[in-house]
Amino acid sequence: MSRTQNSATMMLLSGLVGLLLVLTAEARVGDSSELQFCTETDECLLFDPICQINDLEVRHYSSVKWVSTNQSSVLMEFAAMSTFRRLFNYIRSSNDQGVEIDMTSPVLVSMPQKNFWEMGVFTMSFLLPDKYQQSTPNPTNDRVYIHDTPDMTVYVLSYGGWMTTSSINNAFKQLSTQLDAIGAKYRKDTRYAAGYNSPMTMGKRHNEVMFVVEGEPACPSQD
Ligand SMILES: *[C@@H]1O[C@H](CO)[C@@H](O)[C@H](O)[C@H]1NC(C)=O
Repeated sequence: MSRTQNSATMMLLSGLVGLLLVLTAEARVGDSSELQFCTETDECLLFDPICQINDLEVRHYSSVKWVSTNQSSVLMEFAAMSTFRRLFNYIRSSNDQGVEIDMTSPVLVSMPQKNFWEMGVFTMSFLLPDKYQQSTPNPTNDRVYIHDTPDMTVYVLSYGGWMTTSSINNAFKQLSTQLDAIGAKYRKDTRYAAGYNSPMTMGKRHNEVMFVVEGEPACPSQD
């Protein structure tokens, strides 16, 4: 085969692989053994890896259901005390089915865009296990609600240590600096921080910050 025929074949093949990935993308809350950094719960949020840009990852997530609650505060740490308690009560049976629901990973925090000293609305979400993605128990506390994240492609930066307002802000700064340097387009109004460990865990901790990709992700070209 000539070189042009070869690359045309490659393009066709990668197109087909891409199509297959899209067609098989479902059941996105699954076995934690599929994710090396998800070690503390039986089920985790799964994704399709798209590409790697230096130390950043591009991932595709399907739409999934979460139980969420929000709190205005200056610091994530203060907001987290009340939001965590409300969500924990929901999974410990403060729901209309009266069921206990397993903890999953990650815990997602949607961070407000604000200056450090200002108040802002922090939203915390627990991922619903696979068996409750379809028939979801309704919260009995009216501050708690069920929320779907859309099907989305995201830029992800991972880091260790504890999830604090300042570690999250630093990670977002690094992520946006790297993305701006390559001219990647992303939504600035949605800032997700994801934590995979309980605050008690002293060992290998894994946290992530992510921005939602706008348009096509800025993956390195294949040749
Ligand atoms: C906060 O939660 C309430 C439900 O308790 C909801 O009505 C409101 O829209 C939420 N606010 C934000 C900024 O998401």
